[in-house]
Amino acid sequence: MRLGVLTSGGDCPGLNAVIRAVVRTVERRLGGEVLGFRDGYLGLMEDRHEVLTIERCRGLLPKGGTVLGTSRHQPYAHDGGLAAVRATVAAHDLAGVVVIGGNGSLAAARDLGTDGVRVVGVPKTIDNDLGATEVTFGFDTAVATATEAIDRLHTTAESHDRVMLVEVMGRHVGHIATWAGIAGGATIILVPEEPFDIDEVCATLRRRHDQGRFASIVVVAEGALPVEGTLTLPDPGLDDFGHQRLGGIAHALAPEIEARTGFETKVVVLGYLQRGGSPTAADRVLASRFGVAAAEAAAEGAWGSMVALQAGRIVRVPLADAVASSKTVPADIHAVGKVFFA
Ligand code: F6P
Repeated sequence: MRLGVLTSGGDCPGLNAVIRAVVRTVERRLGGEVLGFRDGYLGLMEDRHEVLTIERCRGLLPKGGTVLGTSRHQPYAHDGGLAAVRATVAAHDLAGVVVIGGNGSLAAARDLGTDGVRVVGVPKTIDNDLGATEVTFGFDTAVATATEAIDRLHTTAESHDRVMLVEVMGRHVGHIATWAGIAGGATIILVPEEPFDIDEVCATLRRRHDQGRFASIVVVAEGALPVEGTLTLPDPGLDDFGHQRLGGIAHALAPEIEARTGFETKVVVLGYLQRGGSPTAADRVLASRFGVAAAEAAAEGAWGSMVALQAGRIVRVPLADAVASSKTVPADIHAVGKVFFA
């Protein structure tokens, strides 16, 4: 079996662990060869690839990022993209392609499947927003990174009696904010799932100060939104791929909090730090499990499916279902965070 593999969308700790597991499974257990395509779908369309061997994958397990490179390019957004993908697949007589990606990349994989290209998906995103899987690899690492940052911010916030606004990633969902906020002992956690009222946020901070505790950590997901009509935030517009640009909510909120409370408020945007670096042990294991399962799914001809974690086990779900819904933060977990507000 000759299998293609690519990584698409934002990078994520654990991508290399998936690649390594796919290569090892194909080469040792199934018999065959893996071609790694460069820069996501772009490399598949342009036929830029390298042969991946076990030897090539040595040392990859703890390495962050992706050795294949990644991009947000998608075949259906390119003139002749589908034909180019078909041509590459035919040129190398590929049994199929393993696509490691998030929502957008897996939606493209679903459409490729409908158009007759044999694909298997592997769910990837630090945001953990894919509905069909309990968790995506990269999420645990992002939470660990954000938690460590919050731990550090406590001591400096306490020393200066400041409010610290910590902005974390989370485009449409607040999994990272909620988990890192709970783990880091945040005063308040703001997530996209529950629009916030700036007056309530300030009242909570004032209550805390009235109790004699002057330092506060507010964790805000980049996609958090105020209750409609309560606060106007700047609109940073769309990026080159038509996605809403995010990042910056903490900078917009800080002066509002200062003005309403009089408390000095500082901002830390964790940004790409959350995506970089070595995956945690949990992410290495999950990524390895996904990689093995994806290669096995390809060998068994389970095209059009995505590997997923459900009730602790690796299962296959149709790609169409995999991208159908976004997974929001469960209300009971958010409620745990709220117990510690102020
Ligand atoms: O991987 C998902 C994500 O981390 C989002 O939370 C974030 O908004 C986005 O990627 C930003 O990525 P980029 O700037 O690389 O497009």
